Amino acid sequence: MWGRAQLLVLMTLLHAQGDEAQEDNELRVGRSIDIFTRYGYLSLSVKVVPKNESTWLFREPTIDIFEGLNQYAVPSKRQSKKRLVFDGNFHMEFCDNSNQLLQAYFRDFQFQGLDKPWKAFTGSWTPETIARNLGINSSFITSDSYCFVLVRLSRYREGVKLTRVPNNINLADVVAREIDNMQVGDVGSVVTFIKKYGSHFINSFVTGNSIYQVFVYNKNYYQQIKDRLKTRGISHVNKRDLLQYFGPVYAEHLGTIKVASGNKTVERWVEEHLRMHYYIFSFQSLLKVHGDLALLSILNNLLLNEAVVELEMKTLAPAFKDPEKRAWFEEVLGNFIKLWEVNL
Ligand SMILES: *[C@@H]1O[C@H](CO)[C@@H](O)[C@H](O)[C@H]1NC(C)=O
Ligand SMILES: *[C@@H]1O[C@H](CO)[C@@H](O)[C@H](O)[C@H]1NC(C)=O
Ligand SMILES: *[C@@H]1O[C@H](CO)[C@@H](O)[C@H](O)[C@H]1NC(C)=O
Repeated sequence: MWGRAQLLVLMTLLHAQGDEAQEDNELRVGRSIDIFTRYGYLSLSVKVVPKNESTWLFREPTIDIFEGLNQYAVPSKRQSKKRLVFDGNFHMEFCDNSNQLLQAYFRDFQFQGLDKPWKAFTGSWTPETIARNLGINSSFITSDSYCFVLVRLSRYREGVKLTRVPNNINLADVVAREIDNMQVGDVGSVVTFIKKYGSHFINSFVTGNSIYQVFVYNKNYYQQIKDRLKTRGISHVNKRDLLQYFGPVYAEHLGTIKVASGNKTVERWVEEHLRMHYYIFSFQSLLKVHGDLALLSILNNLLLNEAVVELEMKTLAPAFKDPEKRAWFEEVLGNFIKLWEVNL
């Protein structure tokens, strides 16, 4: 009996600690990661697309290299007192090909120095992975005769950004020592530094949740709709036309509406409430929420803090006080990034 009780207590403790570490998320401004160990695979540790297994939001190990940065951390994303029907953003992006589609999906994820920051997440994705994550059939990804429109509704829950990293910011002792020992001209010392303390730090992030849908078109219709929405703007096109453009008559394929966090409750709600009927057709459309205050206000409550919706990383250059060492760090890092981007 005793043994069992103790084990239970121990398990509860472990569990509580596990939860706390997750709650803490290690997603904090100023903390750093080594982009190279994760390049192509970041979606395994940053919740940006639905994942079956769990409720973690961010499980990437991050390192505290700066000291006393907290005073420069401020809430971001209009945490205004005004009550909004929907605290977030409705966004539509036209994509001429599947590459642009991935780029659009990761529009709000930036890594300083990377030309193609979305590859940090998608470099390892096969066409099947892309298709599954974006809710469309992979045949549209592998062929180049299709264009896409990504529509996304993002709910913001928590946002933090650094106003600045002052020049005289303190470093953790071990980090300062490592930099002291670094030699300008020695590539190895930069590599060692990056392996130990990272290449980039989190400058800002926003968490929350989003729902999104990809519409697939042939080039003709795509161009027509793009031109129309470009000249008039989405709010000047009447809803009937809008629903036509984003319905089965114009679109080659209507993707499934996905929930970024993979939350099943939200998925079920979407399946039930964002369905449209048009003559013989019945289909899901995220356009249904456009301008619909009742739906938006429900979604405002339904979308919780379960995924990362924006992330901005900057290089660790500010850790280097000595201008020569800083320049050397930036040069080596820049070359590595180029190599990585070419090879993956
Ligand atoms: C989720 O799990 C189901 C059943 O185990 C599996 O068929 C499906 O491919 C998984 N989806 C993802 C996104 O991993
Ligand atoms: C999906 O693509 C496969 C071939 O890649 C095709 O056989 C199948 O019919 C497609 N499904 C839909 C719903 O378009
Ligand atoms: C999924 O979302 C619903 C609605 O916001 C929420 O009540 C529920 O706790 C969430 N489920 C999980 C597993 O987080």
